[in-house]
Amino acid sequence: MANVAVIGCGYVGVVSSACFAKLGHDVTCIDIDADRISALRMGRSPIYEPELDALVQEGLASGRLHFLDDYPDQLDARVVFIAVNTPGSQEGAADLRAVRDAVATVATRIGPGTVLVNKSTVPIGTGEIVHGMAHRNGNGPFAVVSNPEFLREGSAVHDFLHPERIVLGSDDAWAIDMVAELYAGLRPAIQRVDIRTAEMIKYASNAFLATKISFINEMAAICEALGADVREVATGMGMDSRISPHFLYAGLGWGGSCFPKDVRALTHMAEAHGAHPQLLRSVSEINHHQRLRVLAKLRSSLGPLEGRRVLVLGASFKGNTDDTRNSPALELVRLLLLEGATAVVHDPVVRPERIAEGAPGAVCAASILEGADGAEAAVIATEWDDYRELDFVNLRARMARPLIVDARNLLDGRAARAAGFEYRCVGRPGEEGLPFPVTPALAVPTGVER
Ligand code: UDX
Repeated sequence: MANVAVIGCGYVGVVSSACFAKLGHDVTCIDIDADRISALRMGRSPIYEPELDALVQEGLASGRLHFLDDYPDQLDARVVFIAVNTPGSQEGAADLRAVRDAVATVATRIGPGTVLVNKSTVPIGTGEIVHGMAHRNGNGPFAVVSNPEFLREGSAVHDFLHPERIVLGSDDAWAIDMVAELYAGLRPAIQRVDIRTAEMIKYASNAFLATKISFINEMAAICEALGADVREVATGMGMDSRISPHFLYAGLGWGGSCFPKDVRALTHMAEAHGAHPQLLRSVSEINHHQRLRVLAKLRSSLGPLEGRRVLVLGASFKGNTDDTRNSPALELVRLLLLEGATAVVHDPVVRPERIAEGAPGAVCAASILEGADGAEAAVIATEWDDYRELDFVNLRARMARPLIVDARNLLDGRAARAAGFEYRCVGRPGEEGLPFPVTPALAVPTGVER
């Protein structure tokens, strides 16, 4: 087993550290946030991630997992993972300051032959920057490996311990072997490539997943215009192994700490280097329009939203997490507030202060029924299991108007309507029970016979 250091105790750093310790390695995880480190030393991870606290406690008890809030003079590790955050600027460029600081600091504390591993999602070409920084600051030679993570929030521990592939990019084969050895216990499929290709695989993977979601959301809009059911369309598509049923859930669209940042960053990198990412630009535009489509549904039922009281179910960017970064649900809340509506927000896990941070002016409800009091609509904005079975009887009794806008297609529309609700959803006109709209004239390209 090996000595491993991980720099950065965020989602990726803590999950990677605890999982490497579980695989038998001796892991030191370093973060400059002393509060975060003291919580971790007590076995409490700073993030809501199933199984993670137990894994951290197991690592501490085994003596293989250590958390430091400062760098030791010498890092006793043959492999050092850089897992610090790489936030994106509004126009898309990734901010590498944390990476640069970490590498400059680590380089003075490691010996020749140490392998530096980029675990954070970093722009294509960062490997060379890290290589240069390390050799300017430390006594090399060092090797640099790109080892992008493919962890989903809410299932990050599972995803780390059951990888569908490990991508390792480097100019030094021996360094790839050394990093591959750390994962040996998982017997994963390992892809060995050059460093830029490894960095690109990460961006292309996330951009494709976002594209798949925006694709099904565009199909949902077409289904609404043409009278088809997008959920059944997705099921029929997904039976084709080349398509797969995953990431074909139409709804309020994608958010989180990764997709928005990575799609913007890849678009920015492409444009900055003379490529023309038309598809990526459309993927982002379609995604933003999903929030506007849900607002339009509310307006078509309620009229102007000024002064309306709307219950929004969900604040996190997806179910099974407390993360509200780039949350589609909170973007919808902000749009409601902009239109002068009163937005009441419920989330099973996200704390009120986090909701207030993401959507200043929103009212928080401790329970669904409390939030329903006087509400003229209830919008399902996050795919929490808590919202798949609503208490229709009490909800209807509390609400001022029985309107459900199911922006994540969680409910059976016919059951909601049978319970006395007006039901709106995404891409499933049959479930809404509205007279089928007249098919808008299909836009026929000029010069083409009708
Ligand atoms: C994603 C990638 O899945 C993961 O591989 C990468 O390492 C990090 O980014 P994550 O951001 O945790 O993971 O969330 P994910 O489960 O991918 O969902 C992203 C967003 O897409 C969420 O807002 C979710 O609600 C939305 N989504 C997902 C859909 O709208 N429809 C779908 O079918 C799937």
